[in-house]
Amino acid sequence: MDQPVGKASTEGEHSDIILASIVITLEQKRDILKALTIITDAEINYHHIETRSSQIDPNNQCDVFVKFECEQKIAVGLQMSLKETFKSVLIIDHEIWFPRTLEDLDKTGSRVEGYGGKLDADHPGFKDDVYRKRRLEIADIANNYKHGQKIPKLDYTPAEIKTWSTVYEELTKLHATHACKEYNDNFPLLEKKCGFRKDNIPQLEDVSEYLKKCSGFRLRPVAGLLTPRDFLAGLAFKVFHSTQYIRHGSKPMYTPEPDVCHELMGHVPLLADPTFAKFSQDIGLASLGAPAEYIQKLSTFYWFTIEFGICKQGGKKKAYGAGLMSSFGELQHCLSDKPEVLPFNPEKIVVTDYPITTMQPLYFLAESFEDARKKLKEFADTIPKPFSLHYNSENNSVEVIPKDVQ
Ligand SMILES: [Fe+2]
Repeated sequence: MDQPVGKASTEGEHSDIILASIVITLEQKRDILKALTIITDAEINYHHIETRSSQIDPNNQCDVFVKFECEQKIAVGLQMSLKETFKSVLIIDHEIWFPRTLEDLDKTGSRVEGYGGKLDADHPGFKDDVYRKRRLEIADIANNYKHGQKIPKLDYTPAEIKTWSTVYEELTKLHATHACKEYNDNFPLLEKKCGFRKDNIPQLEDVSEYLKKCSGFRLRPVAGLLTPRDFLAGLAFKVFHSTQYIRHGSKPMYTPEPDVCHELMGHVPLLADPTFAKFSQDIGLASLGAPAEYIQKLSTFYWFTIEFGICKQGGKKKAYGAGLMSSFGELQHCLSDKPEVLPFNPEKIVVTDYPITTMQPLYFLAESFEDARKKLKEFADTIPKPFSLHYNSENNSVEVIPKDVQ
């Protein structure tokens, strides 16, 4: 029913992008053409290629050194292809690539798991050709989007607006009593400034411009689920990857994936709050260059906070997670006496398993967004990285400072 950022990656179509160097030892210099053919046929972005005479037999042997950037699984495939022809093929070092600037998000923004119109057999729109065609059209917008462009506005159909209306009407009944103060403070402003209305689906471009003024966050259209690493990296740059399509009209109160109702009614009101926005950005910054096991942990943390978080306000429990705010049933369930509620403890949160197709049996209660942010920072400091990061909010870039020069 939601962005399963903690579950999507490991068996997906995409793997982490790495920077790597490979050394191929040629027994005869004339084999260089064979090596270069295999390298240039691979889907890699090579930064540097050079040959070096072999120390053992400088007249005949030589090494080919290649520094390149590609998906990890492509690097593994390249190494295997080279090994079929050459005896010695070594990947001598590699590191995980991560974006340093807003523009770098263009490299990962279309790496979705699946494609916008490729629906599972149990998706409510699976047998609806018109819906699938529409999803493909909307996916094209996201997949062609580049940083700095305006997000193209969509002319939503009457059927799509009807679906939005049903969701809007049902959810807004509960927000006043169940949502946190920040949500309820921001929602009327979104109604006033961004076209949040029962009979209108707001445009991502308008919402993005508004968020920039409130908290510095912006929206970037995405065709479907990104890998957790790519999705979390966006948050580091105050970029929220948002879908633009709407769920299938046959089941307006259900969606097996994030859609524009979830993004706009779930995420956006909180992203307009500066403290919550900083908390979201800190999750993203913690993810940059983190080892895979920590991406999994941060995804789980994201799940229990940004998606399914509850907090204490005025001595009562209130909901702030987008998965709650966009689900009529779970919004009631999370504040009832049915689920277990535990104190906010990142060390515990990051190792807690959770279901993705049923209501959550367990929630973590934050004292406040400031307190949650402080505890997140303590956890983030335990993530092993050979560098520290400084976020430059003047130009929205990260400076990477190696730990051995600090
Ligand atoms: Fe979400």
